[in-house]
Amino acid sequence: MKIKTFKVERWMNEYEDDAVYNLGETCIDSMTIKELLELAGEDVEKYMVELADTRLSYSHIFGSPEFLQGVAGLYQDLKPEQVIPTHGAIGANNQVITTLIGAEDNMVSVMPTYQQHYSIPESIGADVRLLQLTLEDDFLPNLDVLRSLVDENTKMITINNPNNPTGSWIPVDVMKEIIEIAKSVDAYVLCDEVYRGISEDGSYMQSIVDLYDKGISVGSMSKVFSMAGLRMGWIATKCEEVLHQCHERRDYDTISCGVLDDKLAALALAHKEQIFARNRKILNTNRAILDQWVQETPEVRYLRPVAGTTALVYYDKDIPSYDLCVRLIKEKGVLFTPGECFEMEGAVRIGYAYDSKTLKEGLDKFTEFLREL
Ligand SMILES: Cc1ncc(COP(=O)(O)O)c(C=O)c1O
Repeated sequence: MKIKTFKVERWMNEYEDDAVYNLGETCIDSMTIKELLELAGEDVEKYMVELADTRLSYSHIFGSPEFLQGVAGLYQDLKPEQVIPTHGAIGANNQVITTLIGAEDNMVSVMPTYQQHYSIPESIGADVRLLQLTLEDDFLPNLDVLRSLVDENTKMITINNPNNPTGSWIPVDVMKEIIEIAKSVDAYVLCDEVYRGISEDGSYMQSIVDLYDKGISVGSMSKVFSMAGLRMGWIATKCEEVLHQCHERRDYDTISCGVLDDKLAALALAHKEQIFARNRKILNTNRAILDQWVQETPEVRYLRPVAGTTALVYYDKDIPSYDLCVRLIKEKGVLFTPGECFEMEGAVRIGYAYDSKTLKEGLDKFTEFLREL
């Protein structure tokens, strides 16, 4: 199986360690175990002593009841048995696509998105049709274009909501239209919802599985829960056939998730309100810092992100985004991600959900860099 280089992951692997101002990160300021325990109201010493007695077996093959219940609680009326634990959202996306897509199928993927969604099916030999998101359409799927891309052999439409890198969020009425288009050709909708959970105003963010029986939601502990180190993700769907087929494949590529990972994730899920309150504050503060900087910097423009942890920022210099980002990290220590990693030239992705001081300083360094170019 020949597969293309995963550009964004390769970029991060190569440059993340050199960053003084890491604005390539997409998680909300990662937590320590201690911070989690404190937020959950646990006695840290007591919890750690008890944790030491955990038997390091394969444990619950299908996930602990507490974890499954916690994930089900992130959706409107999902049952714990409709959740499949995976090794991160990356494991979930891989499992769904490799399970459901064959060389004879076609599918539609939005662009930009996480590269798994188009490069894995391409590597399988499927016909992947790209639905380009544009600034003019507020980075929302253009429904007429989507209609023109599907046919009776379309097995899946895959979207990423909230979107990485643009920070757009598909409103429910648009999502319902996407579902109508999927229904017209009996296609699945895989929705990578790894950034779902924290809306600006605190309202519930509807998932694809709340709206469509052939909808498949992928989520994880990495981004809005600030726990990428757990490597816990999941597939959630009401579709029996998908659950069955993914379980069949999972025996080959997962067995079970880590017992410690499952335990800490279950604790976090049981205290999601406290974690989301911490993280909403970070997002709202940092989004305002980013927005103010964009307003004050005539060399850049963007569509203000409304969800997620990243923004796609266009610059007015005639330099490819990869070259710009390499020079920026080498000369100023600021790590962005080139738009080129998302096939979006003339732009950079800024991850703004870490600490506010690094964000402010990194953005100022970038202004300085642009003015010296
Ligand atoms: C859209 C999207 N999906 C999936 C992932 C993988 O996340 P995880 O850490 O849960 O494997 C990422 C990570 O950046 C992402 O941006």
